Amino acid sequence: MSYPEGVRALVTGGASGIGAATAKRLAADGVPVVTADLAPGADERLDVSDPEAVAALAAKLGPVGILVHSAGIVGPSRPLTELGLDEWRTTFRVNVDGTFLLCRAFAPGMARAGWGRIVTMASIAAKDGNPAQSAYSASKAAVVGLTKSLGKELARTGVLVNAVAPAAVETPMNADTDPAILARSQALTPMGRFGRAEEIAELIAWLCSEQLSFSTGAVYDASGGRASY
Ligand SMILES: NC(=O)c1ccc[n+]([C@@H]2O[C@H](COP(=O)([O-])OP(=O)(O)OC[C@H]3O[C@@H](n4cnc5c(N)ncnc54)[C@H](O)[C@@H]3O)[C@@H](O)[C@H]2O)c1
Repeated sequence: MSYPEGVRALVTGGASGIGAATAKRLAADGVPVVTADLAPGADERLDVSDPEAVAALAAKLGPVGILVHSAGIVGPSRPLTELGLDEWRTTFRVNVDGTFLLCRAFAPGMARAGWGRIVTMASIAAKDGNPAQSAYSASKAAVVGLTKSLGKELARTGVLVNAVAPAAVETPMNADTDPAILARSQALTPMGRFGRAEEIAELIAWLCSEQLSFSTGAVYDASGGRASY
């Protein structure tokens, strides 16, 4: 994969799972990468749902050419009728507000430079609606809508905005996921297995590269053949 000379990448959620694999993949292609995460282990400590913290990071880093926004939470794994409004809102604050705040902070610099790549993290849950994961599924459907809108808004600026929709991937996130939901996901996946973070990172690297040229506002499944339209 190739990237314009001097382009830097910001990877949120970069301390773990898909974000960490993506940071490693981009770095292997020679891209300078800054990782940001609430958890230790990233270059920058960041709560993606905190507007002041996102603005402070944008001021500190200046413009970046690539934003991979992988930070997210799975939220509660229970039927909708058993959810509290607080846990619903927490899931939306991290997954939806976070995506909005990161895109709002970093898209203008890309548009000014005339080149940029933004990758957001949706999920097959956004398209399918996992039972006992309504907050997660709805929040990821919001990420899809945001990505489609922003892709159109920036379509003539050189900034391409796309979402990835993985099925279940073997990462620490799924340590918190109800085993019944994971078993259902695996059963629905024609390849009969979970994805690996490195496989998702490979797709993300292409979405960040110069090789991507005619796609924006699109959602790319990485799902072992599981598809819901
Ligand atoms: N693993 C899967 O099965 C799967 C499937 C579809 C989509 N996704 C999405 O992919 C993305 C990455 O997931 P993953 O599997 O790598 O999970 P993960 O738990 O391994 O990594 C997520 C990272 O996000 C960070 N994070 C959480 N809340 C944050 C906050 N408020 N501010 C900053 N960082 C925060 C965590 O500390 C963690 O390091 C998520 O958006 C997730 O919803 C994952």
